[in-house]
Amino acid sequence: MKTAIISGVTGQDGSYLAELLLSKGYEVHGIMRRLSSFASGRIDHLVNSNPNFHTYYGDLCDGTSITGIISDIQPDEFYNLGAMSHVKVSFEIPQYTLEANAVGVLIVLEAIRKFSPHTKFYQASSSEMFGVPGVPAPYNENTPMIPQSPYGVAKLAAYHLTRQYREGYGLFATTGILFNHESPRRGGTFVTKKISQAVARIKNGMQDSLVLGNLDAKRDWGWSPEFVEAIYLIMQQEKPGVFVVATGETHTIREFVEEAFSYVGLDSKDYVRIDDKYKRPNEVPLLIGDASSSKKIGWEPKMKFHEIVHAMIDYDMEHLNDK
Ligand code: NAP
Ligand code: GDD
Repeated sequence: MKTAIISGVTGQDGSYLAELLLSKGYEVHGIMRRLSSFASGRIDHLVNSNPNFHTYYGDLCDGTSITGIISDIQPDEFYNLGAMSHVKVSFEIPQYTLEANAVGVLIVLEAIRKFSPHTKFYQASSSEMFGVPGVPAPYNENTPMIPQSPYGVAKLAAYHLTRQYREGYGLFATTGILFNHESPRRGGTFVTKKISQAVARIKNGMQDSLVLGNLDAKRDWGWSPEFVEAIYLIMQQEKPGVFVVATGETHTIREFVEEAFSYVGLDSKDYVRIDDKYKRPNEVPLLIGDASSSKKIGWEPKMKFHEIVHAMIDYDMEHLNDK
């Protein structure tokens, strides 16, 4: 039986990846933070029912816990999905963002190097590492990376640490540069989920408006359950490297809003307001990916933009009273 550790197992991708690995016969060890309220809603169904799924308290900012878990389990694979993943919030807590998203990666890599060098390591890199306007699109692993947020800077540092441990120590340290990907399990403060939840509530008379920031930015939105399949494939390659995972299609936030409201028969102009508090000091105006490197290893996206919007709204319509 193969063993894997997932950091960030309580998150959107971590929960789908845990399900995928368990379905492939893995023993899965998930690292979760101790919080004062419950954050395990996305994995409760696994905790209670699957004997091959185990959880541990740990924090990427706490070397003792991470190193202890790695040296005890010495897994075949470590998927590093844990991160302070909100770009806007990273402007408000930049130091913590660097500690969790960059130093945390160093802690994992050092623990693997010292105590479990056979462990394959996957780093969750992000298209937010790109960001300069004027660079020819679509973006791939050769595109200049000049991040526009503390989150992007931290992810770029982690990207280079992963490369350096791969080249310097010969570790299987691999990475996927993933463009935005969504699902019903997306956190409620990311724009897609904020919109889908609001549309469901407005349609049912539970909310009267939706307040957003910049509607002109463009994002390449994919489907999280498909993107974790790419992560798994990247880890199964003979050699570690850099792989871009994207749909190759881009849409403005405004288009997402319009598609969402029109799906339930409403006009977004009647409900959407703009507030500068949701805008960022720096913005990445355009993201569109060239996923040739992932296509070469047999991965292709299937869910289309409008299907993603509809699936998220359908879910939120059915779960109106969920917290
Ligand atoms: P998410 O839903 O926000 O999940 C993040 C996970 O990281 C949560 O389980 C969170 O735990 C955990 N975490 C946060 N700080 C931590 C710390 N200090 N120590 C240990 N765990 C910590 O994010 P996601 O969308 O699943 O994304 C997964 C990874 O891919 C992240 O690294 C993200 O930056 C990256 N990424 C995401 C996208 C995307 O579009 N979704 C695109 C590119 C890259 P709590 O539940 O306790 O908060
Ligand atoms: N969150 C949010 N809330 N974003 C808004 C809002 C709002 O009210 N109004 C407009 N936006 C715009 C943001 O300015 C941004 O241009 C876009 O919507 C998407 O924002 P998010 O959904 O927060 O995602 P992100 O693109 O900043 O970051 C996500 O994708 C990255 C990969 O490119 C996150 O998942 C990151 O963790 C990930 O690395």
